Amino acid sequence: MEKILDLISQKMGDAFEAAGYDRSYGRVTVSNRPDLCEYQCNGAMAAAKVYRCAPIQVAQAVVEKLDAADFEEVTAVMPGFINLRLSGAFLCRYLETMRTAVDFGVNKEPEAKTIVVDYGGPNVAKPLHIGHLRSAIIGESMKRIYKFFGNHTIGDVHLGDWGLQMGLIIMGLKSQQPELCYFDDSFTGPYPTEAPFTIGELEKIYPAASARSKEDPEFAKAAHEATFALQEGRPGYKALWQHIMNISLADIRKNYDNLDVHFESWLGESDAQPFIAPMLEDMKAKGLTQESEGAVIFPVAREDDKKEVPPCILVKSDGATLYGTTDLATMVQRERDFKPHKILYLTDKRQSLHFEQVFRASRMAGIIRPETELEFLGFGTMNGKDGKPFKTRTGGTMRLEQLIAEITEFVRAKVVENKIVSEDEVENTTRMIAMAALKYGDLSNQPTKDYIFDMDRFAAFEGNTGPYILYTIVRIKSILARYGAWEHLPIQIPVSRSQKDLMLTITRLAPALESAYRTSAPNLICAYIYELAGAVNAFYHDTRILSETDKNLQAGYISLIALAKGILELCTNLLGFKAPEKM
Ligand code: ARG
Repeated sequence: MEKILDLISQKMGDAFEAAGYDRSYGRVTVSNRPDLCEYQCNGAMAAAKVYRCAPIQVAQAVVEKLDAADFEEVTAVMPGFINLRLSGAFLCRYLETMRTAVDFGVNKEPEAKTIVVDYGGPNVAKPLHIGHLRSAIIGESMKRIYKFFGNHTIGDVHLGDWGLQMGLIIMGLKSQQPELCYFDDSFTGPYPTEAPFTIGELEKIYPAASARSKEDPEFAKAAHEATFALQEGRPGYKALWQHIMNISLADIRKNYDNLDVHFESWLGESDAQPFIAPMLEDMKAKGLTQESEGAVIFPVAREDDKKEVPPCILVKSDGATLYGTTDLATMVQRERDFKPHKILYLTDKRQSLHFEQVFRASRMAGIIRPETELEFLGFGTMNGKDGKPFKTRTGGTMRLEQLIAEITEFVRAKVVENKIVSEDEVENTTRMIAMAALKYGDLSNQPTKDYIFDMDRFAAFEGNTGPYILYTIVRIKSILARYGAWEHLPIQIPVSRSQKDLMLTITRLAPALESAYRTSAPNLICAYIYELAGAVNAFYHDTRILSETDKNLQAGYISLIALAKGILELCTNLLGFKAPEKM
């Protein structure tokens, strides 16, 4: 359906035209002085210049042509502004259309586009850390927003499963258990189905091997060679790699499930391997790559570059391929399998140069079609209260699991202390509130900005927080439950200021969602629902809803808060969390 500003602008355009001026002057905006009016039009100023008369004259002439039924108040004020307040009847009709339309009348894409969202990037056998948390939270929300607007979305986890960590683990294991068949060249298989380590052991092998490689150059070299041998397909190493994958993936899935983050595609860097050789071949044939000291590089600099953009290194002198190589080869695979209209990547913004290089190379090599859009959404760091990257209390890197455990524990204490729900519901309610605290705390910031993780603030039930939004939804749910059947009650003309404010706020849903969609900014949805929740609570404090004796008036209140609830639930779902029944 039409956005309310477009609708009012049309009416204003009609009035300009009827008064003898061009209708393009009729653009209406939301008032920046809500104390004076709800909407305003400044078109008379510009028109006056063209028609050579006083702006106030134009404004007065236009005001006379406006349909009085649509406006509670229209005034032409010096020097030539037109101030508007909508009539309750107009607003009521608009909201009733929203209430009965699919997805509240927000317009979808006329044609579905295929969007690949690359927002996982966990590194197999290494613990997930909070950089991966931001990617998961923002990426999941962006994917849900794309889908809501009618697109076909594919979330790809893009596992880091092919890098040096694999060589380090293999060599780490070899130094502990050199007798294993995986290291025996004469072994002809089959390899055991049972892994020679548990997840607990695996988690220890990697950091130990990584630390050792920094002090022991021989070991580091061996790990590099093992990585290369794995990439070349050495059977024993491939078998070990499969064990590492199986064990680690189960853990990774569990972590994402806990976050209510779900991927449609579970491919990794290793799946790009078959595409690498033909891709390099093709690039070479096109004369795009060069040999440099034994390495293969792809220059991507442009003359008008303000900063130096170094070449993409595709193959190192020891034959190993790199992060950029797999990213390019992955594009080959995505192009073949999905023909995407767009690929959206999410990582820490420190990877922006990497993506600049990869995007340029992919265009130059014609890996993706020219019309395919590539977007890199680089996000800022999550910091501790000291302004430095978030650490554990003892100063170590914070693991995702631990962070979630801490915030969950914090919320659980509140839930228990305030006796919010019965004992058997504590866990579920706690989890929902903790997720809202964590996700809203993250998403309410502009993605590119660093932010401070502050548990007290994020988990507070008041203020600009996830739990406050949930609290508002739960409050409405409880009123509705006490009222009874509300599903078919129509919207009614507002009878108070706070009721009208709530209605006006509801009309701003579509522009808020659209800007979030167009600018990759879930924070705009947060800002919108914070405003909406504020309007709901102001209305609630101002109005006797359940004790209202005028049944007709009461039904109008109920349908309005039910509509607000539907919108809040839609938005929280797009952000990736849900409200419990009680709070
Ligand atoms: N595994 C990478 C990391 O932990 C992130 C991968 C992001 N996606 C990509 N296509 N490069 O930094």
